Amino acid sequence: MERLNPAALSTIDNIVERHKNEPGPVIVMLHDVQEELGYIPFEAMEKIADATDTSVAEVYGVVMFYAQFTTEPKGKHVINVCLGTACYVKGGQKLIDQATELTGAPVNGTSPDGMFSLDATRCLGACGLAPVAVLDGNVIGDATKDNKMLKALKLIIEEEKKQGNM
Ligand code: FES
Repeated sequence: MERLNPAALSTIDNIVERHKNEPGPVIVMLHDVQEELGYIPFEAMEKIADATDTSVAEVYGVVMFYAQFTTEPKGKHVINVCLGTACYVKGGQKLIDQATELTGAPVNGTSPDGMFSLDATRCLGACGLAPVAVLDGNVIGDATKDNKMLKALKLIIEEEKKQGNM
């Protein structure tokens, strides 16, 4: 199995150390690992299980239960497109198609250059703004109007190109 780099391992160690005496530490640790590494590597589950006296299987169960956790590395930029009923009816699928075409990221996957991840999500609870996309945590309501999401994505790509990352 591929080993994590030392920096990522020490990030995990710090997180575990920080929270091991708190109540309900597993979720808190997983949350921080997800936030800091962008995904939950297997090594993190092992370390968390060790520190909290739980089994790796139990920690894995928690990871699988919550949609916010992912075991695959994410792209540098994350696009969520809501495919709940209201958003689907108002053009959610079009947003998905546009995002895939522009970035090369398949639905629920990452583009080959590692720049973009695209996730189709369930209702985000903002149906009044349908169709909704979330780009790097920023909510874009009415996202098909004037190609709002598409324009935001193009800006990111331009910026990445300017910095020589694409
Ligand atoms: S269906 Fe998309 S926010 Fe509710």
